Amino acid sequence: MADLSLNDLLGSKLHQRKESGLLRQLRVAEGKTDFCSNDYLGLARSNELKLRISEAEGQEGGGIGSTGSRLLSGHSRLSEQLEQRIAEFHGSPTALLFNSGYDANVGLFSSLGRVSHTIVYDELIHASVHDGIRLSKATGIAFRHNDPQHLDQILSAVDGHSVVAVESIYSMDGDACDLRAMADVCDRHGASLIVDEAHAVGLFGQQGRGLVHAAGLEGRVFARLMTYGKALGCHGAAVLGSDVLRQFLINYARPLIYSTFTSRHALLSIKCAYDMLSVVDDKRQITSHLTALLKHELSSLASVHLIPSNSPIQGLVVPGAARCRAVAQQVWDDGFDIRPIVQPTVPMGSERIRICLHAFNTEAEVMALAGSLRKALEMNS
Ligand SMILES: Cc1ncc(COP(=O)(O)O)c(C=O)c1O
Repeated sequence: MADLSLNDLLGSKLHQRKESGLLRQLRVAEGKTDFCSNDYLGLARSNELKLRISEAEGQEGGGIGSTGSRLLSGHSRLSEQLEQRIAEFHGSPTALLFNSGYDANVGLFSSLGRVSHTIVYDELIHASVHDGIRLSKATGIAFRHNDPQHLDQILSAVDGHSVVAVESIYSMDGDACDLRAMADVCDRHGASLIVDEAHAVGLFGQQGRGLVHAAGLEGRVFARLMTYGKALGCHGAAVLGSDVLRQFLINYARPLIYSTFTSRHALLSIKCAYDMLSVVDDKRQITSHLTALLKHELSSLASVHLIPSNSPIQGLVVPGAARCRAVAQQVWDDGFDIRPIVQPTVPMGSERIRICLHAFNTEAEVMALAGSLRKALEMNS
């Protein structure tokens, strides 16, 4: 018989994590000013969007749950129509909805790994892509962040077909990918480029169509991921690509096959959020103005490294998990919802405070946040 119970073993693992300053905990941020969420345009708190969704629910009728996997009873005319609308909006032959961006990436990369033996990815790619690769039979190879030359070297050494994974806006650093350079390298090697637009959709490109559309690269990108839990303020995701890809995913993407499909309410929310993308130019402008203001305010801090980014995701590097947490705690105590991002989410030494700007933040809040950060950094220097 084992000496320790499973609870003891779990407890000791958690203890180790706590000792190294890496314990993750849930926190309710009630009453704090939001500089943390991915609700860049404020749609998750928009009364207008709420109203549109309840009107759509009134008109559409129908039940609550989808009642099954998409391959069984979960499929509906509504999901088909929404996918057509999404595909047209982004200039893609097809779209396929998933319950979340995590599910979509896991489904996409795990199933592509059945036919493509190498998946090459930017070293800062999201965990969901890593998990998809892990579940596939493909070999995963990382290239240096945003470095097309390194990608070129790797692809030159690989036999057979490769899939390449990048993000148009990186989730933790907020910087943009040089999509054209990546597409050029992929074309030279006959590799297929996949672009995760989770943090670009809604914000960048015409009416938020994303950066692939903005660069006119729709025809040179094999697949794109759009997620709806960030700038669109709801939940869910879609993979955009060819009809063959859509059919392939319906056949092989396990998160789609073996999970109850999203609710009617969620589908109508996505539909209404897309409707709103044409009337939120002012919100995009405010977000971008506040981003510039925060960057300006923090630029006077000589000892501080702000990761270069023109997106509403700003990473203030505070090396060392303990120091990063201490600074974040102090700013939290001043009333701001910001979180420290530490290992294993980001590499050791690049611990940072991830600050997200939103259309609903005010100039006064941004100035007060900068002041609080300045004070906390000085006290924890
Ligand atoms: C780049 C990126 N891809 C995918 C996801 C997963 O999306 P979702 O939150 O819809 O599961 C995220 C969310 O954290 C992300 O940042």
